Amino acid sequence: MIIILIDCKNIANEIKEDVRKMIVWNRSPRLYVIQVGDNPASNSYINGKKKDCEEVGIECIIIKLDENISEDTLCNLLDLLACEQNCDGIIVQLPLPDHIRKESVISHIPSEKDVDGFRKDSEYAPCTPLGIIEILKRYVNLTGKDCLIINRSDIVGKPLVNLLLDEDATVTIAHSKTQNLKEKIKQADIVITAVGIPNFITKDMIMDNKIYIDVSMNKVDGKLCGDISKDAYDCNALITPVPGGIGLLTRAMLLKNVLRSYTKGM
Ligand code: GUN
Repeated sequence: MIIILIDCKNIANEIKEDVRKMIVWNRSPRLYVIQVGDNPASNSYINGKKKDCEEVGIECIIIKLDENISEDTLCNLLDLLACEQNCDGIIVQLPLPDHIRKESVISHIPSEKDVDGFRKDSEYAPCTPLGIIEILKRYVNLTGKDCLIINRSDIVGKPLVNLLLDEDATVTIAHSKTQNLKEKIKQADIVITAVGIPNFITKDMIMDNKIYIDVSMNKVDGKLCGDISKDAYDCNALITPVPGGIGLLTRAMLLKNVLRSYTKGM
């Protein structure tokens, strides 16, 4: 049996090591993480981000707010942090409670500190698409490759189109209304899936020597899984696993965006 899962942990560690080496000035980079409420998944994501920051020498300040805080108070806090002299990046952990509008909150993070890349005019690309490009470039020259993205969201599918085009790839973006999707999956050189449906891509759709990036984090019986069924993991193809896959790269690229903000103008 051939198992060629992409070793995302190793790639994320290489990126973290690069970031760590770049922090040589007399001030540590500083990232503010704002959490509203006590969502268990957010707690876990934020713990992971804090651990990553500590590993590379980024100061991570977590501000945990009551879930009933008003949108205005949250926006005022962001305005204050934006003026803080040593602040290199601000992220607001999602999801937010229903009474707070995400777009309004994000607009109070200045574009040069929006290290999540959530604003349309952010100085940074969103971390998941950046992580996907980091992985792909380690395995393949993207020039002319047929890439199929099955997701059209503002923070994965759409920004990924531009990043892949920058690498001279040929890009198709698919979604729930796309026709002949199974055929398109089989024809592509590279498939990036973020559909959110367990076993959406089955073993018979996986082609030898092609690359499959699984961005989804689904839960089945309390266990994490992606869109690609696990019995495809022994195919003669390169696949990112879930768990232990793209999520690690998303976290690593957040550090890289903070570093970019910190080194800007130095
Ligand atoms: N919630 C789930 N993933 C993310 C992320 O990458 N950034 C933020 N801010 N919230 C999230």
